[in-house]
Amino acid sequence: MTRFTVNNQPVFYKMDPDTPLLWALRDASNLIGTKYGCGTGDCGACTVDVDGEAVKSCRVPIGALEGRFVTTIEGLSRDRSDPVQQAFAAENVPQCGFCTPGMIMAAAVLLKKLPEPSDAQIDAAMTNLCRCGSYPRLREAIRHAGRVLRGQEPLAAAPPPGIDPADAARAVPALTPVTPTKR
Ligand code: FES
Ligand code: FES
Repeated sequence: MTRFTVNNQPVFYKMDPDTPLLWALRDASNLIGTKYGCGTGDCGACTVDVDGEAVKSCRVPIGALEGRFVTTIEGLSRDRSDPVQQAFAAENVPQCGFCTPGMIMAAAVLLKKLPEPSDAQIDAAMTNLCRCGSYPRLREAIRHAGRVLRGQEPLAAAPPPGIDPADAARAVPALTPVTPTKR
């Protein structure tokens, strides 16, 4: 059993201490913003903040986190109000969006340590992989968030997603089972 803090909430996982943090977050805490990409520590989709460091949660067993403080994308904000989230939306970084939570967590940690990172410092810190190739916009979003966090620039709130729940629940024709036709 392991006790630590997730998004400012004390948690007590009755799981095998060897369970990777990623699966405790996703399966036990339903914090599914943290993504599974590779499971080998290479892609960064599972990045969270542990005591102010960007950590690949697929590679950290919960037993190693006793007493530590973990922040996930949901802890940054649940409404995209965090300046890093806002800057990612303003610069249109996400395409498929799968890598985005991990990217945002790594960027947030970077900007806490280095409020005005150089391109080389951004590249060194952002080892996360993006299959969609959003790297140029990623850099711009980090610079943008840095200016906002330093008080040099206001950032207009990103518009809400504007998805009608009825549309979201609409059947996708390509996924509708086809009834076999009689010959
Ligand atoms: S899933 Fe953790 S680094 Fe890829
Ligand atoms: S936006 Fe698709 S993997 Fe990065």
